[in-house]
Amino acid sequence: NSQFNFNMTPVEQIKDKLDIVDFIRQYVELKPSGKNFKANCPFHKEKTPSFMVSPDRQTWHCFGSCSEGGDIFKFVMKMENLEFYEALKILAEKAGVELKKISPSDQQQFGVLYDINEEAKNFFKSELIKSARAKEYLKSRGIIGETAKEFELGMSPAGYDDLSIELINHGYDIKDIERAGLVFKTDRGSYMDRFRNRVMFPIYNSFGKVIGFSGRILPEFDNGESGKYVNSPETPIFNKSRTLYGYQKSKDFIRKAKSALLVEGQMDFLMTYQDGVKNVIATSGTALTFDHLQTLKKAADDLIFCFDNDEAGLKAAERAIDLANGFDFNVKLLVLDGYKDPGEAVFKQPGIMAQIIKNAKPAMEFYFDRYLNAELSGNEDAEKRQMDIGELKKNIRIILLKIKNLASPVERNHWIKELAIKSNINEKSLFEEMNQLKFAIAVHARPTEQIPSAPIQLKNQSRRDLISEQILMLASTNNSLKNKLEQYLNYLPETYKSAYDCLDGKVDCGKSVSDFLNSISLRASFLLEKMDSGKVEKEFENLLAGLKTEFIKERKAELSRIIKECEKYNDQDKLTEALKEFDEISKIT
Ligand code: UTP
Ligand code: MN
Repeated sequence: NSQFNFNMTPVEQIKDKLDIVDFIRQYVELKPSGKNFKANCPFHKEKTPSFMVSPDRQTWHCFGSCSEGGDIFKFVMKMENLEFYEALKILAEKAGVELKKISPSDQQQFGVLYDINEEAKNFFKSELIKSARAKEYLKSRGIIGETAKEFELGMSPAGYDDLSIELINHGYDIKDIERAGLVFKTDRGSYMDRFRNRVMFPIYNSFGKVIGFSGRILPEFDNGESGKYVNSPETPIFNKSRTLYGYQKSKDFIRKAKSALLVEGQMDFLMTYQDGVKNVIATSGTALTFDHLQTLKKAADDLIFCFDNDEAGLKAAERAIDLANGFDFNVKLLVLDGYKDPGEAVFKQPGIMAQIIKNAKPAMEFYFDRYLNAELSGNEDAEKRQMDIGELKKNIRIILLKIKNLASPVERNHWIKELAIKSNINEKSLFEEMNQLKFAIAVHARPTEQIPSAPIQLKNQSRRDLISEQILMLASTNNSLKNKLEQYLNYLPETYKSAYDCLDGKVDCGKSVSDFLNSISLRASFLLEKMDSGKVEKEFENLLAGLKTEFIKERKAELSRIIKECEKYNDQDKLTEALKEFDEISKIT
């Protein structure tokens, strides 16, 4: 229907014309698996297929260690290492969809953006050679000439349009220069160079092409208004959450060592690299992302974090550890003693990085230090004070949650033992306390043999929620299981009950429930692949029994609370009612 097509966006038209199954088939061998298809995941090494494609929803998902998923665009971007616009162009061509809405300059090769960045880099480099002050500044920071050369450092002059004039003289259109992020329009409508009076660090993609810059202001121009560092904005070729500073140079070292050292800033990177630890990368101005970790996962098993030695750095480390643990990295921490960051450490003590990297400590030990020592727990005023029992309890729980998040029971056991020694609390109590804790962190899916929970994590999911989720997952694939569930419906929490009502698609259930059902259905067919049907039925019955037990447990706890309250306030009617229900529920088995 062409009239309808006319109203669809290019993305919708492309999705309408291209079938994801046919498309992915060009890259990987797909085998049918019920209504869906499966294959070995093209994005990570695996022996048993955990990559699923759904023709119904036109989506794909890997249930293995990369746990990525998405639509046809996401697939081609990942597969071919493309930015969105590049993927759009390729898919539009395949689908025969015209990209009218994108201006002719956007339709041009992305090449022009690469060319402009390359030209700008050369300009900044030549400016550095002319600037005695900039060279002196780099020297004062400990950067040697060789390092500056290898990473093609530069200098942006003071003028408002020095770079633009240079680029226009080379024949580039100001609009393209703007798209490359090197100039911006002021309120008065004129163009202005983004980088002025700054030492320039080119940022490269992993193939070594310049895609953007970070610029550090010379101290004498730093009026606190424009930012110590300024970075290129996101452009069609520069995606911050996917870029790691220095990776183009260090990736081979990382691959060889199977280990990567992650630092915060460009200076930290350069100094560490210069110090001989070459398997290093920096996030430079953004928080660590899933995409970063995925890139690194292709090359390394070990990940060592060395963040700034301040509260912000500790917070960043904690977040990074939790994220990286979900990727099955062997996560370690490098803590600097007496230096604010790796840049300063190397400047004051060359050779230090190679020396201390051997003593990087396991992430869990970092948590022990952070949460068991009052001085390190974020209260700077607390000299060597003792923690009070309330604070200690709170902190022990934080550590227990981290331990609970570990995939391996052996590892969990190990750290409980350590914690028992460090905290002087016996293992049994620690285990009990841990088992009572609800998962608070949405854990990134890992390859496990158990039934994983759906990605939509309700905060504070109870055991009954988790069981209900698994029950719905199985019931969604099989009518006889669904029928079995019917007698147990009252034991389901309300949200899951409404999801059940929508299972056959007859009731319109709203976006959040349908998203939830979508997410469990692919997962279910993936899991069922591995189980024989007898086992599935048995598993289902166990889950139903578990649901009932949990329901009774929860209801009894709730009733006990009500009974206590009624006694306190002498509410006899309500008390009688509650006691009666308690009695009845105790008889159910
Ligand atoms: P830091 O402030 O720790 O930088 O920020 P640094 O490397 O120690 O700075 P100097 O040069 O030694 O004083 C860490 C990183 O965060 C980004 C930069 O990438 C920096 O390297 N950042 C920092 C920004 O993007 N903007 C800022 O204003 C500050
Ligand atoms: Mn720093």
